[in-house]
Amino acid sequence: MEFSGFTLIDEQHGHLLESVQQLKDWVRLGRGETAVFTMTTALAEYVVQHFAYEEELLHTLPNFPNLAKHLEQHKHLTLFAGDTLDLLLKGEVVVEDLLQNLEDWLIDHIDEEALHFRTYDPATLTYK
Ligand SMILES: [Fe+2]
Ligand SMILES: [Fe+2]
Repeated sequence: MEFSGFTLIDEQHGHLLESVQQLKDWVRLGRGETAVFTMTTALAEYVVQHFAYEEELLHTLPNFPNLAKHLEQHKHLTLFAGDTLDLLLKGEVVVEDLLQNLEDWLIDHIDEEALHFRTYDPATLTYK
C-alpha cells in the first residue's frame, strides 16, 4: 500500500485493507454466514465514514487532481457495497470473487490517490 503522508488517511486505508483481508480469511476458513455478514456490514459502514472524511479533505486541498472522477469512484464503490450486502443477504454471490474485486479496487484507488496526496503538505494543506 502506498502512503499518502496524511496520518489519519493512511491509518484508515490500513484498516480498510486489513478488514478485507480478515474477511477473506474468514470466508476461506468457513466462518458462519452471520459473522461474515456482520463484518461486511461493518466494512461497508467504515468505507462510507472514510470517504466522508477524505472528501472533506479533498475539497480543502487546492486543485486536487481528477477530483470529479475521484468522487465518482467513491459513489460507485458505495453503491457496490450496498448491492453486495443485498446479494449476501439473499445468498446469491460467490463471496470470494467479490472480496477479491473489492480488495483490488481498494488497492488501486488507495495507491493512485496516495501519489496525489503526497504532493501536499499535511501541516499547511498546500502544495509542497
Ligand atoms: Fe479516495
Ligand atoms: Fe482513501
